[in-house]
Amino acid sequence: MFQRVRKAVLPVAGLGTRFLPATKVIPKEMIPVIDKPVVQYAIEEARAAGIEEFIFVSALGKESIAAHFSPHPLLERSLEDKGKTAELALVRAASLPTGTMHTVIQENPLGLGHAVWCAWQLVGNEPFAVILPDDMVLSDTPCLKQLIDAHAKVGGHVVAVEDVPREQTNRYGILDVLSDDGKLAKAKGLVEKPAPDKAPSTLAIIGRYVLDPSVFLELDKKTKGAGNEIQLTDGLNRTIDKVPFHGLRFEGRRYDCGTRVGFVEANVAFALAHPEMADRLRPLVQKLLDIK
Ligand code: G1P
Repeated sequence: MFQRVRKAVLPVAGLGTRFLPATKVIPKEMIPVIDKPVVQYAIEEARAAGIEEFIFVSALGKESIAAHFSPHPLLERSLEDKGKTAELALVRAASLPTGTMHTVIQENPLGLGHAVWCAWQLVGNEPFAVILPDDMVLSDTPCLKQLIDAHAKVGGHVVAVEDVPREQTNRYGILDVLSDDGKLAKAKGLVEKPAPDKAPSTLAIIGRYVLDPSVFLELDKKTKGAGNEIQLTDGLNRTIDKVPFHGLRFEGRRYDCGTRVGFVEANVAFALAHPEMADRLRPLVQKLLDIK
C-alpha cells in the first residue's frame, strides 16, 4: 500500500501576461469560465479527488485568490437576510474549510520546479498532487481522482498524459517511454519542451501530477533547464532511476486555458456540458458557425 494523497499544490504565481489587459489587476486564475474563476474548477477537482489540504504558491498582488476561498461574512449575512438561499449556497460552496488552505509566496518567477519547491515545508515527506489550473479537464471521473487511483496501485510519480501532434512537443514535458499498455506508460526519461525532431515520443504531460516527495531534493539543487527556468520535468527526470514514473492516459478532454483560443474553447465546452445552458447554447453556437 502506498501512502494516501492528502495535499495539493497549486502554482498560481504567474503574471498572466498573455491575458493583458484583463490581468492588469485581476489574477489570471480569477478570470471566470462561465460563472466560476478558473482556479475554482481546480479546487473542486481536488476536493472531489479527496484532497484535504490546499497549498497555493502565489505572488504578491494575487490575494484575491485566497479571499475567494475564504468565508465572506458580510456578503453571506446580506444574502441570508434577503432570503437568497441559492446564491448563499454558491458563496459558501466556494469556501474551503478553515485551516485547510495555505499560501506561500514565490518571490521570483524562476520556473514551475521552483514554484513546487516553494511548497516543500508545507507538503513534508508524503506524496502530493500538483494541479496547474490553466489546464481544465472535462471528464466523468475527476482527472486527479484517476491519477490518485492509479497511484494507489503503482506508487511513485503518476502524471496525466495525452498524445499531442509532433509539431507541439516544444510546449510540453515529454516522456521517453519504456513500456506502454495503452493506458499507463512507464517512462525511462523525461524531456522538457523538446524540439519536434528531438522529442523521444509525442506523449505529453498535462497539468495534473501525483508526485513522490523525493522530487523536492532534486528541485532543491535549483538546476536551470529549458527557458533558463528551474523545471519540474527535469527534477522528476533526475529521480527516475529510483522512483517509478508513469503517465496515465486519463479519460476526459483537456482544455488549455493558458492561451486565448483555448480559453474561449474551454468556455464553450464547459457551457455545452452545463445542464442549464447546453440546450439553449447549442443552436446559438451552430448559428455563429453558419455566419459566413
Ligand atoms: C508546464 C510544464 C510542462 C507541462 C505543461 C502542461 O509547462 O513545464 O512540462 O507539459 O505545463 O500544461 P508550461 O505550460 O507552464 O509552459
